Amino acid sequence: MQRFFVVLILCIPFASAKIPAPNEFCFGACRLIFSTAQFNTTNLKTGESWGYGAPACRNELQIHSLYLCNRQFCSPEERDRGLAKWNETCRFWDLTLPPFSIVDSYTNEDLGHLHHLELDEVTWPVTIIWNEVVVPSEHLFHLALNTLDAAHFERRIHKLYGASMYYFWVVVILLGLSSRCARFLINLKGRPDVWQPLPTQEDTTPEIIHSRRGCSIFETLYTLLKRYMSVPATFGYTRSQNIWWCTIPTRIQSITIGSFIIINTVLCSISYRVVFTGNLYWPEVATQLCRYIADRTGVVSTANLALIWAFGIRNNTLMWLTGWDFATYNNFHRWVARVATVEAILHSVAYTIMIFGVWRVELMLDQATLAMAAICSFSVYPLRRGLYETFLQLHIVLSILVIVTMWYHVEIFNGEYNGYLWPCIFIWIFDRLVRILRVLSFNLKFWNTKATVTFDLTSNIVRVIVPYSTSFIQPLPGTFYYINALNDFRIWESHPFTLSYSTSSQEDISLDTYSTPPSSPGSNTPSRLRFSPQNSSNQKSSSELDNLLDRSQLAPPSSLVFTIRPYDGFTVQLRDSALANPATLRMLIEGPYGETQPLHTFENVLFMVGGTGIAIPLSYMDKQLAEDSNTTSLHIVWAVREQQFLADTITTDFRGAVEDKRVSVAVFVTQPDKDEQFSCLPKMVEVHHGRPNVYGVVEEAARRSCHTPLAVVACGPGQMTDDTRKAVVQMLGKGYGKIEYFEESFNW
Ligand SMILES: Cc1cc2nc3c(=O)[nH]c(=O)nc-3n(C[C@H](O)[C@H](O)[C@H](O)COP(=O)(O)OP(=O)(O)OC[C@H]3O[C@@H](n4cnc5c(N)ncnc54)[C@H](O)[C@@H]3O)c2cc1C
Ligand SMILES: NC(=O)c1ccc[n+]([C@@H]2O[C@H](COP(=O)([O-])OP(=O)(O)OC[C@H]3O[C@@H](n4cnc5c(N)ncnc54)[C@H](OP(=O)(O)O)[C@@H]3O)[C@@H](O)[C@H]2O)c1
Ligand SMILES: *[C@@H]1O[C@H](CO)[C@@H](O)[C@H](O)[C@H]1NC(C)=O
Ligand SMILES: *[C@@H]1O[C@H](CO)[C@@H](O)[C@H](O)[C@H]1NC(C)=O
Ligand SMILES: *[C@@H]1O[C@H](CO)[C@@H](O)[C@H](O)[C@H]1NC(C)=O
Ligand SMILES: *[C@@H]1O[C@H](CO)[C@@H](O)[C@H](O)[C@H]1NC(C)=O
Repeated sequence: MQRFFVVLILCIPFASAKIPAPNEFCFGACRLIFSTAQFNTTNLKTGESWGYGAPACRNELQIHSLYLCNRQFCSPEERDRGLAKWNETCRFWDLTLPPFSIVDSYTNEDLGHLHHLELDEVTWPVTIIWNEVVVPSEHLFHLALNTLDAAHFERRIHKLYGASMYYFWVVVILLGLSSRCARFLINLKGRPDVWQPLPTQEDTTPEIIHSRRGCSIFETLYTLLKRYMSVPATFGYTRSQNIWWCTIPTRIQSITIGSFIIINTVLCSISYRVVFTGNLYWPEVATQLCRYIADRTGVVSTANLALIWAFGIRNNTLMWLTGWDFATYNNFHRWVARVATVEAILHSVAYTIMIFGVWRVELMLDQATLAMAAICSFSVYPLRRGLYETFLQLHIVLSILVIVTMWYHVEIFNGEYNGYLWPCIFIWIFDRLVRILRVLSFNLKFWNTKATVTFDLTSNIVRVIVPYSTSFIQPLPGTFYYINALNDFRIWESHPFTLSYSTSSQEDISLDTYSTPPSSPGSNTPSRLRFSPQNSSNQKSSSELDNLLDRSQLAPPSSLVFTIRPYDGFTVQLRDSALANPATLRMLIEGPYGETQPLHTFENVLFMVGGTGIAIPLSYMDKQLAEDSNTTSLHIVWAVREQQFLADTITTDFRGAVEDKRVSVAVFVTQPDKDEQFSCLPKMVEVHHGRPNVYGVVEEAARRSCHTPLAVVACGPGQMTDDTRKAVVQMLGKGYGKIEYFEESFNW
């Protein structure tokens, strides 16, 4: 530790030595030389020092030498500018410099007779103390000039390359934005009524319209892009599942991340061309190189910090711009953090080598580097997944530690680099403020949101029903909310849950849904037909019915419904609180988050979901069946283990939508009980046993879509979403270019 401070102090003169701007190089070179050469100071009344500062303002030998150096090498403008500045500095000690005319008495011949300083006379440690006026040799002067030039060049290039990290991401974001716009334009173009002039009789057959639509070069390119870039995983087929401890991003994400790594590697490796022997700061080439590498990696790493924060927060504005989801930015967040950590370690290694020489194996890791390395190593997959809360709390504490230690680390540069840290702090504060705003926008009396929690043992599902009449933002399909329980358990934990559906005050999950006769198609609720289980209710088990009655009585008008699987920690506590009876808990609701996908613009929609993933089709149902929707066929394939969950969902949560002619539901029960209860299900629900054949389902949907737009939406276990993704890629390869793949991930 002590050595650390010694070294730090050793570094300060190097680090904070103010490097002159190019127009001060000439004067600066003379000053650099005479701040290293030592003059006899015994003729001065006080002070015993060398170099910059007070003595240099009144040591006549030094002043004469400096003036002569200026006279010999610098133009009058350079000289005057430099002297004026130095004079200003001397006033700090109540001293003034004598006028430049004091060296007028020296003739050029006198100059020739003066001692000419050479490099070894100003190389640290300096042993000679001058009792006379001296001038630098031309060689030494140029070395000093080059030293300043090199230092200035490097400092500029470090900053430029640091800023390049931002330019890189600006380009990436712009590409994302323009591809979003392009997709919008293609969709416009693809509409036959936009560009197809007066169709003749035989032109109007769907096949011809479709082949016409398909011939645009942009569309072919777009299909290829989907086929090879944006949809498939980088290699193999696992995107949601992990391989060993890694998650594999999609190709387009990998290309982005790869480019970022390459740019970092290149920018940390080039532009060290000014390394030369005889540098007055660091005589040895190896030392200069180390110093410059250390500075470069340090600056670039510090510049990257702001990106890590920008990509890691919940309220990431870039998500709204590009439409990329949290999972994508989370990948970027991780990779930028890894790159920045490697750079911080290189920075420390290079400094160690610079100060102790290459043979030293001990590494001087400063606290900032240590904190960054710690964050990275505590974010490994098993910890992130297995002990999420521990991971999160460690992550927050260590991030604060990184900012604080970094702050003190760069403080010594007179605030020159603190500018890189402010964005991190602002981004964080911004995120926290928006989070508070979101909580308040849901309910100004945020402490007063009382949610009803029910649990059904046979379906092993917790349902949380939250009244939202106080919310300023209306619930939208495909969004999710973070939930904190304010009661007694784990107040600090907030967990994301997808909105299954919301009920408005007119159409709520109340008892009348089950007692009134079913409305006929085209009646007052054209967007969604109500399902009446009258035909089958007598076959229901009493527990099921009780559960339905319970839930429907508990639901107040206009509420959000969440379908939650108890896993561990928080969700298990939710379950336990409602084990015997439905519970009323105070909850903090933060949201909505996430984007609603434009699924209603597709003629065909296939939902491939597993378990609680059914929340996604449920939440989109209303919008898909609304009047302005283009969806003519909506197919839901749902793999589910518990029959009770299936029965509840179909009878209650679907709220009759299964009766709509556009909707078809295929349920795959993977763990059937002996006590079969499928008879209670409406006829339109196909029930199968065992897992669905994901490839077959997607292929069938693609075939049936007959080259009209098809959206495939996956939400479920990693293996299932990966299978779906792979099947979509294969269909794109088979020429079904109108397929879009959407994934709603429950895991980041
Ligand atoms: C966008 C999104 C929507 C989701 N929607 C639903 C849903 O509708 N129904 C449902 O049952 N589950 C949903 N989940 C999963 C749900 O958030 C987790 O099951 C829950 O957080 C588990 O917490 P736990 O304490 O019970 O278990 P833990 O053992 O603490 O966590 C289990 C796993 O859940 C994940 N997780 C935990 N906490 C968080 C968090 N705060 N943020 C992100 N991931 C976390 C981690 O990967 C962790 O490994 C969703 C997750 C996400 C990201
Ligand atoms: N990481 C977490 O702790 C966590 C927490 C909450 C939710 N989630 C995620 O939320 C989603 C649903 O959770 P859940 O607990 O409700 O699910 P679940 O009960 O496990 O149901 C998943 C269903 O999908 C089937 N399935 C799995 N892989 C398949 C495949 N490749 N092809 C076809 N069918 C497949 C399963 O069949 P089998 O019965 O044959 O397996 C099962 O019927 C999953 O993504 C889950 O990972 C994760
Ligand atoms: C410095 O100068 C004084 C007289 O001006 C002289 O006595 C002394 O020896 C000199 N010191 C050195 C180190 O030359
Ligand atoms: C420094 O400032 C003083 C007072 O302003 C002035 O007399 C002197 O000439 C200046 N010296 C130089 C070298 O400019
Ligand atoms: C009950 O089902 C039959 C046949 O499936 C149907 O004709 C009848 O209309 C249904 N009755 C009600 C009340 O839904
Ligand atoms: C549905 O399609 C028609 C024409 O094909 C188009 O004008 C309309 O905007 C589409 N509706 C939506 C919601 O996309």
